[in-house]
Amino acid sequence: YAALGTITAAMPGFSLAEIRSAGKTANSAFKADVEIALTAQAADMPILPGAHTHVLTYRGKVLNGPQTALKELPGYLGPILNFERGQKVRIYFRNQLPEPCITHWHGMHVPQVMDGHPMYAIDQGEQYIYEFEVDNPAGTNWYHAHTHELTATQVYQGLGGLITVTDEAERRLELPSGEYDLPLIIQDRSFTQGNQLRYMLGMHQRMQGFWGDTILLNGQKDNVIPVKTRAYRLRILNASNARIYKLGWNDGTPLTAIGTDGGLLPRPETFPYIMLAPAERVELWVDFSDRKVGSDLTLHSLPYQIPTSHMGGMGGRGRMGMMDQAGQHEALSIATFRIAERTSDSPKLPDRLIPMQRWTASHVTQPDKTVPIAIGMRHMSFQLNGRTFEMENYQEIEKIPVNSLQRIRIFHESGMRMGRMGGGMRGGGMGMMMSQPHPIHIHGQQFQIVSRTQTNSQSSAYNTIKDGFINNGWKDTVLVWLGEEIEIIKPFQDHVGLFLYHCHNLEHEDMGMMRNFWVG
Ligand code: C2O
Ligand code: CU
Ligand code: CU
Repeated sequence: YAALGTITAAMPGFSLAEIRSAGKTANSAFKADVEIALTAQAADMPILPGAHTHVLTYRGKVLNGPQTALKELPGYLGPILNFERGQKVRIYFRNQLPEPCITHWHGMHVPQVMDGHPMYAIDQGEQYIYEFEVDNPAGTNWYHAHTHELTATQVYQGLGGLITVTDEAERRLELPSGEYDLPLIIQDRSFTQGNQLRYMLGMHQRMQGFWGDTILLNGQKDNVIPVKTRAYRLRILNASNARIYKLGWNDGTPLTAIGTDGGLLPRPETFPYIMLAPAERVELWVDFSDRKVGSDLTLHSLPYQIPTSHMGGMGGRGRMGMMDQAGQHEALSIATFRIAERTSDSPKLPDRLIPMQRWTASHVTQPDKTVPIAIGMRHMSFQLNGRTFEMENYQEIEKIPVNSLQRIRIFHESGMRMGRMGGGMRGGGMGMMMSQPHPIHIHGQQFQIVSRTQTNSQSSAYNTIKDGFINNGWKDTVLVWLGEEIEIIKPFQDHVGLFLYHCHNLEHEDMGMMRNFWVG
């Protein structure tokens, strides 16, 4: 709590004493439908053949309510939590790690004391009691550690898990369910010879975030999934620290998306490939009906290039070579579906899913106001709106009236300004920094993307990724490529307090690429 000594008087309801007591007691007036115990702990688990791997993991148990609220995965990831819209949930989160920890329910619309802000981190042996009503529509969310400057290492070592939400509107669609509804949690990790997780942050990783060389699917190395000749629903989460995937089927079949971060799309949409940045979710419909038993269909990450071209002049020659290599991302196999059994019970893909009212400028609460999220850098660290993270602080432009609908513009600070700052820097670091794409995540409710503009006319690499963005669904994380300007409209309903917005490249986040919005 060291950082909390300087709480600003401008934060009603945030006294040090209140923060220290948050999460300590259950509210007896809150009648929970489901109660779950969730513990962050160290463990040794089989991930690769041979020696077990030392990991951090969430272990869970349903204390009260439907046992289906929790489903264990065999790997090092936490259990899948299955919630129903409208359900009241109480989670007893216990930290058994020899370091602070706190858990965030990514994508869930919860009050600020339940949101896992790093100011609420608890020490070893302590417990944080979360209570919230599930207010999200059906979809795929997740939970993960959100500890100050430790988010990247804790998530890397295993502190993450999936959340599904179901509701009436979804059930009416009769989408593939049960064994035909598959979670695909994608992570890249690196291992030592002795099967231990390797995590190194050199200058290069600081800029680009940590990219591992081994793909894990649902926390395991084995990525072959036996399927039947029928349709499946795939819930894909990129739970990697920094790696961005360009997902595609190996035989060139277009991808059919039915959902994004915040739930189901208004209607299915097809894509030649889909860019999936850290924390983003996409739900796919895949139909194996016409495939031969014994054949395979593989979900790949295709090669693409991180655009670096126009910044090249800033880097020293030697370093540029390394950057170009880093900018070229090789093809990777993510999951292989092996057609193992014939069946003829396949549901049909509905042509309409969940209606969505599109917001325009005329819907926003303060039509003449745009909230900025300016991506910048200073002293070799990334910033948002000109500052790095401050635990309990916010700026005037970060104040948002509660129960308002806001237009937000996410953009890179001007090239001029960056050029001037770059003048004092040596080597390729600046060029690499400049070229970084940033998956920007805003806590609270999901938003709509209104427009996406590429302002950098020299960015030819952009053409290798630009058709892979899903702009029509509910989003809580949006990948902002170099030179892009993205306008979104986001509601800030019900809950007051400090809500984070940050880059979900976890190394960037821990470097301070995170800020608070004060909603009040
Ligand atoms: Cu998934 Cu604040 O993060
Ligand atoms: Cu979040
Ligand atoms: Cu970033």
